[in-house]
Amino acid sequence: MAAKMAPSLLSADFSRLRDEVKRIEEHGAAWVHLDIMDGHFVPSITIGPPVVKALRPHTALFMDAHLMVSDAEKQIGPFVEAGADLLTVQAEATAHLDRVLRKIKDQGIKAGVALNPATPPEVLEYVWPLLDLVLVMSVNPGAGGQKFIPAVLPKIKAVAAQIKARGLSVELEVDGGVNRDNAREIIEAGATVLVAGSAVFKAENGMAMIREVSSYGR
Ligand code: DX5
Ligand code: ZN
Repeated sequence: MAAKMAPSLLSADFSRLRDEVKRIEEHGAAWVHLDIMDGHFVPSITIGPPVVKALRPHTALFMDAHLMVSDAEKQIGPFVEAGADLLTVQAEATAHLDRVLRKIKDQGIKAGVALNPATPPEVLEYVWPLLDLVLVMSVNPGAGGQKFIPAVLPKIKAVAAQIKARGLSVELEVDGGVNRDNAREIIEAGATVLVAGSAVFKAENGMAMIREVSSYGR
């Protein structure tokens, strides 16, 4: 199975997001990763539904919205309306994971759960039937450009094994500190979607990484 790349706009030039989305599309991206921060679950504030809505008509890319927000339940409607294809919520941000996931699925789009580096995959135990994606965070959420935490590699393997054992078609996304040097190892551990922000938008020849990584595992 080939891996998909989901470049994160967090490291793009925010003054010209429409062009940046076009650029990753031309370089072979399958998805675009949108990091939504609310200044509460994490200290930073990034973008909200109006920006997602503004970009929607300009791209055919699958819009993968990663909600690093405290009250995801309230934000589901606005992001669905804005055109997101998938909403991923942080497991740590809600006491009502089942309810939030059902609410996303009820809107007819895909649902994912993100796990912080210290969060065990056992939180997924009773929500597997509601999942289209599991996002294993390989940095602590809040900022781009951090270093990959190798201690999450066994968790990637454990989640991949669960998906296989249950016979599910759930994507396994890895987010944080992904670059040319570690992408292959992360895919070998079981990732099917790799997020990369600074490695795509800020590194030399970063755009070429999209096609390179998309060919791994083929
Ligand atoms: C971190 C975000 C990531 C981040 C990835 O809070 O969820 O998506 O932008 O950026 P890099 O690839 O630079 O670690
Ligand atoms: Zn993210």
